[in-house]
Amino acid sequence: EDYAFNLQTALFEHVLGFLKSNQSKQNLFFEIVIFVRQKTSEMHAKILIIGACGQIGTELTKKLRSQYGKDAVIASDVRKGSPEFVNSGPFEVVNALDFNQVETVIEKYQIEDVYLMAALLSATAEKNPAFAWDLNMNSLFHVLNLAKAGKIKKIFWPSSIAVFGPTTPKDNTPQYTVMEPSTVYGISKQSGERWCEYYHNIFGVDVRSIRYPGLISWSTPPGGGTTDYAVDIYYKALSDGKYECFLSENTELPMMYMDDAIRATISIMDAPKENIKIRSSYNLAGISFTPKEIAAEIKKHIPDFSISYVPDFRQKIADSWPSSIDDSYARKDWGWKHEFDLESMTKDMLEHLSENV
Ligand code: SER
Repeated sequence: EDYAFNLQTALFEHVLGFLKSNQSKQNLFFEIVIFVRQKTSEMHAKILIIGACGQIGTELTKKLRSQYGKDAVIASDVRKGSPEFVNSGPFEVVNALDFNQVETVIEKYQIEDVYLMAALLSATAEKNPAFAWDLNMNSLFHVLNLAKAGKIKKIFWPSSIAVFGPTTPKDNTPQYTVMEPSTVYGISKQSGERWCEYYHNIFGVDVRSIRYPGLISWSTPPGGGTTDYAVDIYYKALSDGKYECFLSENTELPMMYMDDAIRATISIMDAPKENIKIRSSYNLAGISFTPKEIAAEIKKHIPDFSISYVPDFRQKIADSWPSSIDDSYARKDWGWKHEFDLESMTKDMLEHLSENV
């Protein structure tokens, strides 16, 4: 319904724009024909999301379906998600490591754009380095090679603030700087970035990427990241009134609300090709805060909330990452602008979660 509504609004705005311009009214007919043609071809532009049941994939699927129509977006994951999710549109079980499975689904639906969201995150990757390297790298190679072979047109591949390391300047980390990642996850993302740029330069593959900060959302829990505390804290604040944090109180990390992250993802994919000047991955910034600061913000809504700190192995990972990010290239090249700050995010998180927790 969203799709039909968006379409009507777009057509209405388009006609209005035409009427305001001084063109001859006879051209209006042609304008409408061109508009309808373009929209129908967009409808047929099929999108595949690999890793659609994860934290980002779930919301990305929802958003892309409301934008392009439910049948234009094929969700896939290694396992079936909730029945509600699986029944919300086309769904396929796809193992991102199985080249044939990925190729088959791409051919079956005549996919044009692939969003490769399957990955092992930082904390899990430290526990299973060989599998993390295998999954994070080979899934990317499969998709890059399918694009090289002309079977898909555009790829979105997420990178992360984890590409930076202990020798990187921490504050306002620039796009181009020292990058010596010290985690398994960071090493895989850094290598992936190099391969993306290489496939673009050598084979002309249209691959686009963002270095996501820690992502916070209410609809699907994150899995295995170092920034996960910033999601968990809201759940525990509502259910227990207290939270034991695995990072120390002054550990400042770059973060972002999921709504902003999804908007960034779709807008880098929608941008004209020539605007995407960086083909490794773009720095992207939203908000930076410490556990102490997020706790203080939660306390404004839940005055009795208390937090304690028991840092574990994830502290070392967090210590190797930036505190804040300079994303001026994304702002300049494709018009990025974040909307949510700590205050508005906290309000939105608590509102949504209190309905569900
Ligand atoms: N949120 C991710 C993690 O903590 C960083 O990309 O692993």
